[in-house]
Amino acid sequence: MVRVDTDGNERAGKGPFRVTLGVSAGISIYKACDLVRRLKERGCEVRVVMTGHAAQMVAPVTFQALSGNAVITDLFTGAGEPSIAHIELAKWEDLLLVAPATANVLGKFARGIADDFLSTHYLATTAPVLLAPAMNGNMWRHPAVRENLKILEERGHVFLQPGRGSLACGDVDEGRLPEPVAIAEEALLLLSKAGDLSGMEVLVTAGPTREALDPVRFLSNRSSGKMGYAVAREALRRGAQVTLISGPTSLEPPRGSRLVPVTTAAEMEAAVAQHFPACQVLVMAAAVADYRAAQILPDKRKKAKGGWTLALEPTADILSNIRGLKKKGQFVCGFAAETEEVKANARKKLEDKGLDLIAANDVSAEGVGFDSDRNALILLWPGGAEERVPETTKAACSRALWDAISEALHGA
Ligand SMILES: Cc1cc2nc3c(=O)[nH]c(=O)nc-3n(C[C@H](O)[C@H](O)[C@H](O)COP(=O)(O)O)c2cc1C
Repeated sequence: MVRVDTDGNERAGKGPFRVTLGVSAGISIYKACDLVRRLKERGCEVRVVMTGHAAQMVAPVTFQALSGNAVITDLFTGAGEPSIAHIELAKWEDLLLVAPATANVLGKFARGIADDFLSTHYLATTAPVLLAPAMNGNMWRHPAVRENLKILEERGHVFLQPGRGSLACGDVDEGRLPEPVAIAEEALLLLSKAGDLSGMEVLVTAGPTREALDPVRFLSNRSSGKMGYAVAREALRRGAQVTLISGPTSLEPPRGSRLVPVTTAAEMEAAVAQHFPACQVLVMAAAVADYRAAQILPDKRKKAKGGWTLALEPTADILSNIRGLKKKGQFVCGFAAETEEVKANARKKLEDKGLDLIAANDVSAEGVGFDSDRNALILLWPGGAEERVPETTKAACSRALWDAISEALHGA
């Protein structure tokens, strides 16, 4: 979407960051008043949208006075010209920040319900979305809320984790809205990163490969593709053009990516060789089979007495082959899924394959790695430097990975 100035002209420079602050009816709404000030202190222009329920908790005039702009509470403005302010605001903003985000708002955003200004505007925006949920601890843990959060995270939105402490309902539990300064800082961080891969061609591989044994059976592995898809989604969010070469997964391709579906390691190799020359960054997060059947049976092998001994042969080593194609300025990041000697094995892979970075993960660890929504990484650089990304969501791992790559690319 083309961003425009208030006079309708295409926006020339970056100017001060423009933040739409969505305010919904959580008891921590009082912190949203201070948040407007914290954002303005950091040079942001702020426009506030309140839900109808939020406007019953705090009068819109409070936010009007603090932001210096009229507050939007209604989709239908009533008299006069029909307004499409929800679209105009989407063209104006650099970030949609919702704080506090109620369970209700999370549900509406996740499921695409557009029955008021804020939820309709959410569907119209292409800006990054930062959500600061806050609610009672039982609400926060409810499966409906967990499911909605998962959908929104997979969509590429960023969350501020609610804190633990004493809640308005009297419980000491999870669910507190973070302090306004922390929210404003996160918003600024997101805004400054939003375009750091702008115009860059990024190639990501994801998922498992399948190696046929006969027309109905195959060899594969436990990769779900979630890590690679998260890496692709984060690159898109930061402005890159993303080609995603993916083995078979059950995941929705990230909106805006160019999907190249493949099945076997040989197809993955051919697709990488085709798309690599045009990319500036390659992230190989796919779990490519190391072996395939030496012979694929033309017909289904019938069940019979005795065993079935398979002869396997190695598949191509995609990363080693890329080494020969790599031009100056191209950056290649590999992943190492290990079950033992994680760091030592990953460092060997980094050096043997001449990579610029490797993200090592221990796929035998409980609750992380294959098919999980969480992961923990060790980023290893040539020359011995390393950085740990402690266990977190795969979306947050991807942010840390791109922070590291972006820093290397921009020479920070
Ligand atoms: C005093 C009060 C405090 C509330 N606090 C919260 C809260 O912190 N988080 C939340 O998700 N819902 C909270 N609710 C419930 C929401 O206000 C309710 O779900 C409402 O429908 C949300 O509307 P909105 O999302 O359109 O603003 C509270 C309700 C009341 C009456």
